[in-house]
Amino acid sequence: MASPNGAATELDIRADFPILTRTLRGRPLVYLDSSSTSQKPESVLAAIDDFYRAHNANIHRGVYPLALEADALFEGARERIAAFTGAPTRSTVFTSNVTAAINLVAYSWARTNLRAGDAVLITEMEHHSNIVPWQLATQATGAQLRYLDVGEDGTLSLQQLDEELARGDVALVALAHLSNVLGTINPIAEIVERAHSAGALVLVDGAQAVPQIPVNVSEIGADFYAWTGHKALGPTGIGVLHADSALLEAMPPFLAGGDMIEAVERQRSSWKELPWKFEAGTTMIAEAVGLGAAVDYLSALGMERVREHERELVAYTLTQLGALPGVRTYGPPSPDDRGGVVSFVVEGVHPHDVAELLGRENVCIRASHHCAQPLMAKLGVAATARASFGPYNVRSDVDALVSAVANAQKVFA
Ligand SMILES: Cc1ncc(COP(=O)(O)O)c(C=O)c1O
Repeated sequence: MASPNGAATELDIRADFPILTRTLRGRPLVYLDSSSTSQKPESVLAAIDDFYRAHNANIHRGVYPLALEADALFEGARERIAAFTGAPTRSTVFTSNVTAAINLVAYSWARTNLRAGDAVLITEMEHHSNIVPWQLATQATGAQLRYLDVGEDGTLSLQQLDEELARGDVALVALAHLSNVLGTINPIAEIVERAHSAGALVLVDGAQAVPQIPVNVSEIGADFYAWTGHKALGPTGIGVLHADSALLEAMPPFLAGGDMIEAVERQRSSWKELPWKFEAGTTMIAEAVGLGAAVDYLSALGMERVREHERELVAYTLTQLGALPGVRTYGPPSPDDRGGVVSFVVEGVHPHDVAELLGRENVCIRASHHCAQPLMAKLGVAATARASFGPYNVRSDVDALVSAVANAQKVFA
């Protein structure tokens, strides 16, 4: 199968990403921070540029031809984005990022449905975006916030899930499909099935999963599935919420204002139909067009191939980093159970020093708590270093990482 730039066999797509030609002090850019944000292919940059140069007008308002072009590009992007994740277009809502998508549910659904005596069940591996909204929602409603543990091997226990569900009070299970720290791929369809059998709804944070593994929202069956465009080769400023349409119909609007109303009277208003009821104000038009181009690019690559490519890179990284004395990696030991993320610590060197020394070699990794402080507390560390992959990474990036980590060890020896 040919990739978008015509390569025939393995993923050889670096030429599609203009930024990857940058050098720093003569060294090539080794970008290993795709879990923070991905780089963008030429086709995404061109789609955004073309929108502003040739089609820019506000949407859902104008009747002149240019405005109708903008409408068609925006709604056409929504259709392709929904199709990419196997979701209905009508219940695919654009938000500004995954954080905003989760907040939409935490305000609109949770504050009207949670009661004292209910529980929201999250996990110790959540990003703050899937913790803090539930802290506020449970505090506002008197519901309880409980956590599923992360085991030594970086996985969740389905037995503990069943025990929690058997308590009979769980109204919502909210969890990551793929951990941004451990890389763990949670058995999401299985979790949804168990939660539904116990009468609980499920929200999935798919921020890391959608860019890395094939995701079919309809097959997963979660009530809410949220993700973010900038990690999936798209621009910043756009996120996606796929939701059960009956739930969306029943939920009150989250943000209110222009474009989400049917009619406004002096004291009351009525709402547009889905998905526009949840898209107040001028939406992220060019960003949707850019994300549409991103999912076209990923579809042409094939998400099975992206997954296999990143699985191989992770396997190679675990072996190579693991061979360095004093380096500890986190997460499931088998690359089959994890996505393209490897968190690690280097004995005797603070993760921030590791990242800074690697930066001097133009090797870009992240060192922090990764917006997962409860998980850091569980792991007993303040921070980790983290290398994360996109489809454009190659084995030589891993070699550069490992060599730079070995050099950092020498500096601190
Ligand atoms: C699992 C997960 N959830 C949520 C987020 C937040 O994404 P955004 O800042 O685009 O809302 C991230 C970003 O790192 C993430 O990895």
